[in-house]
Amino acid sequence: MTDKKNIDAQKASTGMRKGLTNYGDTGFSLFLRKAFIKGAGFSDNALDRTVVGIANTGSSYNPCHGNTPQLIEAVKRGVLLAGGLPIEFPTISIGESFAQPTSMFLRNLMSMDTEEMIRAQPMDSVVLIGGCDKTVPAQLMGAASAGIPSIQLITGSMLTGSHKNERVGACTDCRRYWGKFRAGEIDEQEITAVNNQLVASVGTCSVMGTASTMACIAEALGMTVPGGASPPAVTADRIRIAEETGAQAVKIAQTQLTIDQIINGDSLENAMRVLLAIGGSTNGIVHLAAIAGRVGLEIDMHALDRMGRETPVLLDLKPSGSHYMEDFHRAGGMATLLRELKPLLKLNARTVMGRTLGEQLELDGAGFTQEVIRGISNPIYPQGGVAVLHGNLAPGGAVIKQSAANPALMEHEGRAVVFENMQDMAARIDSDDLDVLPSDVLVLKNIGPKGAPGMPEAGYLPIPQKLARLGVKDMVRISDGRMSGTAFGTVVLHVTPESAVGGPLAHVRSGDRIRLSVENREISLLISDAELAKRAADSPVKVPVANRGYKKLFLDTVTQADKGVDFDFLRAERIHGKTPK
Ligand code: FES
Repeated sequence: MTDKKNIDAQKASTGMRKGLTNYGDTGFSLFLRKAFIKGAGFSDNALDRTVVGIANTGSSYNPCHGNTPQLIEAVKRGVLLAGGLPIEFPTISIGESFAQPTSMFLRNLMSMDTEEMIRAQPMDSVVLIGGCDKTVPAQLMGAASAGIPSIQLITGSMLTGSHKNERVGACTDCRRYWGKFRAGEIDEQEITAVNNQLVASVGTCSVMGTASTMACIAEALGMTVPGGASPPAVTADRIRIAEETGAQAVKIAQTQLTIDQIINGDSLENAMRVLLAIGGSTNGIVHLAAIAGRVGLEIDMHALDRMGRETPVLLDLKPSGSHYMEDFHRAGGMATLLRELKPLLKLNARTVMGRTLGEQLELDGAGFTQEVIRGISNPIYPQGGVAVLHGNLAPGGAVIKQSAANPALMEHEGRAVVFENMQDMAARIDSDDLDVLPSDVLVLKNIGPKGAPGMPEAGYLPIPQKLARLGVKDMVRISDGRMSGTAFGTVVLHVTPESAVGGPLAHVRSGDRIRLSVENREISLLISDAELAKRAADSPVKVPVANRGYKKLFLDTVTQADKGVDFDFLRAERIHGKTPK
């Protein structure tokens, strides 16, 4: 083919010519498409450019995305400066505390919306604007399945506030102050005053919760421009990152740097390494498993645990440490962290900049003195933030955020105090009649993927009020649910298989003995196999079902925590390997 023919052939499948609506006459389809978009004032010259779609997740129900209008303006500027045509489009937005029954119930719906809107509309690349906990994983999952050149733009963290001269930020301090209120240490007036200070601006939670974890993971995966994880939402740095993201979106479209060249076994391993080193949210593991499933990979939980034993926590951020996201940004953000982790990283992994992670780190240059990101020889915690547990209570695995747990409870045996579901817990946990001691193990069933449904963040069971009043701050707690990344305590989560599908957790009874050994990575119900089998035979579980709508789709197809709680039909058609190696 001649050069001209080559260019014509390429043009035929790009920009506004891409993915024509099916009217049976392609010429007419393009004619009609152009006529309609010209109704918005576009010229032929503009419509001939590389098209960058911008997924707009702004919503008044989502203050974590409250800066979306400014980000879109900056992305558009970047796209135009690089010679492209920006076109924004809406998708679902999920604000963590506004989604009922739980945001996780809707993550897969958002990923389907993202995937199908990318596929359905003409765009050569896409900028994904996400921030609040479920939005970034949903977008990465959807984009990985859609397969076009994609780049993530994080909304950025909120600023911290101040209460009685103490710095506070959502949501580790939300939980700390609520605990004080429950224990009667502070009154109604003070908790109201704290409520005004916890969220000092728009943006995502200011600690190393799930949103910050996913921001760091997105950069570690190579899916953001360098430094894209850490600038707070309301800063000039964040706006400049948005402009750079827009310009880079044009480049990845023109060089056909598709998302499968970025998200693969190596970059997923880097993301897991980072999750462990930042004391990241346990939710990050579920989301990484879902993203991996979209590219045909499974997370090897045993290998992840081995990585955890050799990856110290370096980041001194709440809830594992003491600082906030804005401090992380001032300390150099991900470049500082990745420089420290360099010997443990897959440096050949490619990023959206078109270069490898190793080349990017060379460009980032030398570090500087700061006190938020520790050196590998002086960690804040000697192992990774998350440990993977196994045993007869969790044959498919469970996790504990050891860096935010109480060291005195990491090797513990105690009597089970069982709640059958969230309603049972709400009805009894604060009763003075509850038979519970500080050494007991609180067990909550039926909050797994199918159980609640949607695997809510209810795994952080409150300390029973009668013990809280005595000053008890932590107990061993076990469930098949999740926990907010901003929470802390000796909390065993993601017990797999969940109780609602007949996992062993379903058969625990109050008074049973349970052993937790983080050292041995063990979570065991101290009854015989024969007794466990007898209980399962005597009381088979009724797996939840629904008759219609999205809930039916969810309950019929959702997978367990180790598969990312994704829908089975959304995973890659062929799983071709495991990661990490
Ligand atoms: Fe949106 Fe925490 S509630 S990031």
